Amino acid sequence: MATYGSQNYNSNFRRNMNDLPLAAEFERLLVGQPGVARQILPYVEMFAAGLSPEGRPAGVFLLLGPTGTGKTRSVEALAESLHGSNRHILRIDCGEYQMDHEVAKLVGAPPGYLGHRETQPLLSQARINSVASERSTLSILLFDEIEKAAPSMMRILLGVLDRGILRLGDNNLVNLERTMIFMTSNLGADKMQKELTPTLGFAAPVAQGKAAAASRLESIGLAAAKRKFSPEFMNRIDATIAYQPLDDKALHQILDLQLDRIQRHVDARLGARSFELEVTPKLKKFLLEKGTSLEYGARELKRTIQRFILQPLAGVINTGQIPPGSLVDMDLKNGEKILIRIHTDDEDN
Ligand SMILES: Nc1ncnc2c1ncn2[C@@H]1O[C@H](COP(=O)(O)OP(=O)(O)OP(=O)(O)O)[C@@H](O)[C@H]1O
Ligand SMILES: [Mg+2]
Repeated sequence: MATYGSQNYNSNFRRNMNDLPLAAEFERLLVGQPGVARQILPYVEMFAAGLSPEGRPAGVFLLLGPTGTGKTRSVEALAESLHGSNRHILRIDCGEYQMDHEVAKLVGAPPGYLGHRETQPLLSQARINSVASERSTLSILLFDEIEKAAPSMMRILLGVLDRGILRLGDNNLVNLERTMIFMTSNLGADKMQKELTPTLGFAAPVAQGKAAAASRLESIGLAAAKRKFSPEFMNRIDATIAYQPLDDKALHQILDLQLDRIQRHVDARLGARSFELEVTPKLKKFLLEKGTSLEYGARELKRTIQRFILQPLAGVINTGQIPPGSLVDMDLKNGEKILIRIHTDDEDN
């Protein structure tokens, strides 16, 4: 009862700062993928109410879809809204466990085997518990690029999904009933890409209608997953979620979110020396053209912001040109030139 009883409900579902409910915060952080909250949050709610079934993880999700559309971001958004920070994720990059012998790093070598003492299993109870927080006892476990996992890792995972228990190399048991498992994959992404950018002469996705395109992508993803994974495995997944390509409005919103984040970072880091950052619509348009595409979604946006916002900004901060409390207005001039104007209170007088 004390572990995940309903008395934890409020602390699980309210942020300390401004009392936003978890769902609103999650949807603020994850843009343009409405199905994701709808499919994941009910499991979080069941967990908080103490109604998650026993003997299995609190939720198992397979996230499919084109690159840069928010699969990994969803898991981070959940960690942020649930625990207050995206550091509260135990992330396993399956690309590092493509060979059976590498899987020992996850569960530890059996006694008597070489490396038994040195290998601290990555999936120990302590590590899983360490990503929960005082706000919620739900741990988030992420397997990125699950299609790359070695067959022995898939067997281990199947056992986990089935019983919510993991047996380590030293025979200790790890309980994953208070864990939500996310697996991301690019399975079917190539085919989805072709669907999104049809060769000349075929109907463009816009013409097909958004809903039709979405369900087409979903069936491509699901078919690819069914080809790759066994029926037992697929049966133990609570929801397979197909991510949709982001439209212009969503990409714009993502840019605004990231600029917002920079402002908060400036406020937190510079304290009294902080300033207000403003980016003109012209520069925003440029950032979107450079940093987003149908092919890579919003994947390159961060790098673009780094190059065209943060780096020029660092220059003027370091030369002491920004008086505290000024308005720093960033604009685009002559192609790719960034123009920074600094407005102070004095100049208004
Ligand atoms: N729907 C979204 N809402 C908010 N931010 C997003 C969204 N999609 C992408 N982003 C931004 O783009 C970056 C890349 O997205 P993310 O890592 O989630 O892609 P992905 O779908 O996991 O792609 P991949 O298949 O390549 O791993 C994120 O860090 C985030 O800043
Ligand atoms: Mg990802």
